[in-house]
Amino acid sequence: MALETLARRDTADAAFLADVHAGLALPQKALSPKYFYDATGSRLFDRICRLPEYYPTRTELGILKARAADIGACAGPHAALVEFGSGSSEKVRLLLDAMDAPAAYVPIDISGPHMREAVARLAGAYPRVAMVPVEADFTRAITLPPLEARGRRLGFFPGSTIGNFTPEAAQDFLAHAAQVLGRQAAFVVGFDLAKDAAVLDAAYNDAQGVTAAFNLNLLARINRELGADFDLAAFRHRAFYDPVPGRVEMHLESLAGQTVRIAGQAIAFRRGETIHTENSYKYAPARFATLAAAAGWQVHALWTDPRHWFAVALLEPAGRGAGPTASGAT
Ligand code: AVI
Repeated sequence: MALETLARRDTADAAFLADVHAGLALPQKALSPKYFYDATGSRLFDRICRLPEYYPTRTELGILKARAADIGACAGPHAALVEFGSGSSEKVRLLLDAMDAPAAYVPIDISGPHMREAVARLAGAYPRVAMVPVEADFTRAITLPPLEARGRRLGFFPGSTIGNFTPEAAQDFLAHAAQVLGRQAAFVVGFDLAKDAAVLDAAYNDAQGVTAAFNLNLLARINRELGADFDLAAFRHRAFYDPVPGRVEMHLESLAGQTVRIAGQAIAFRRGETIHTENSYKYAPARFATLAAAAGWQVHALWTDPRHWFAVALLEPAGRGAGPTASGAT
């Protein structure tokens, strides 16, 4: 392995260890959901997306299929498509197919190998589109490499990943994306809508236990990568909707009083104590529009599904024209 790759991995391990120690020292122990996505976690997440109870992925796909032509028209010819947190880059095909001679596809993802595999698959299918992968944490300051594209930049942030940020962090991210994409941009953002708690409860506590395995894999990853000794059987997955902040919370609950060692440091858990691993905010359209406006965007269009469970917003920089031009169920 090249020295540069080894050095990058050491830095990443050190940052992971520091985050784990800091998070587990908090009064409410917490770990960042960004650490879910090692190779096993990414595979488990792909399985979650296909679960019968987990409606967001297929609902969003339905909306994107129905509205791809509108999005393509808004992007205009020779646009560059910039995807934040691209993962397996599947949904992007719908947009590339609907765009007029897209010039470039710029996926930004922290997981380099996963992204490069996805880009290699896409490159075969879209030989005329320049593939410009950027390996980076898309929430941090990024400057895009120079792009040949003569057209607009079309940002793409699907999957309701925005819901995994606090509203303050979501606003900061949208403001950062506005800077990265520039004044001529348009931005497609998928977000999950507030709804009946029973639907959310089922989506985050699936019958096959895939979400539980996804959550517990975080402890397995800490064991694998940081040499810790979490006993996975001594923790259980918990997920519930709290309507006050409007979010699903995921936790890992300790089933006993126990001590875990991570890189030589002992961490005590009381029976019933939890590690907070994820928030998944569910927005009303008006609340999302307010958040976007505070970050310098206006809603050009907002589309939902017939059950109003999920929404896709098409944003433009504030002040570019009249407010919303379209809305409603597909
Ligand atoms: C990636 N993110 C939008 C998912 C969500 O629904 O918040 C992650 C997830 N957690 C449990 N199931 C899916």
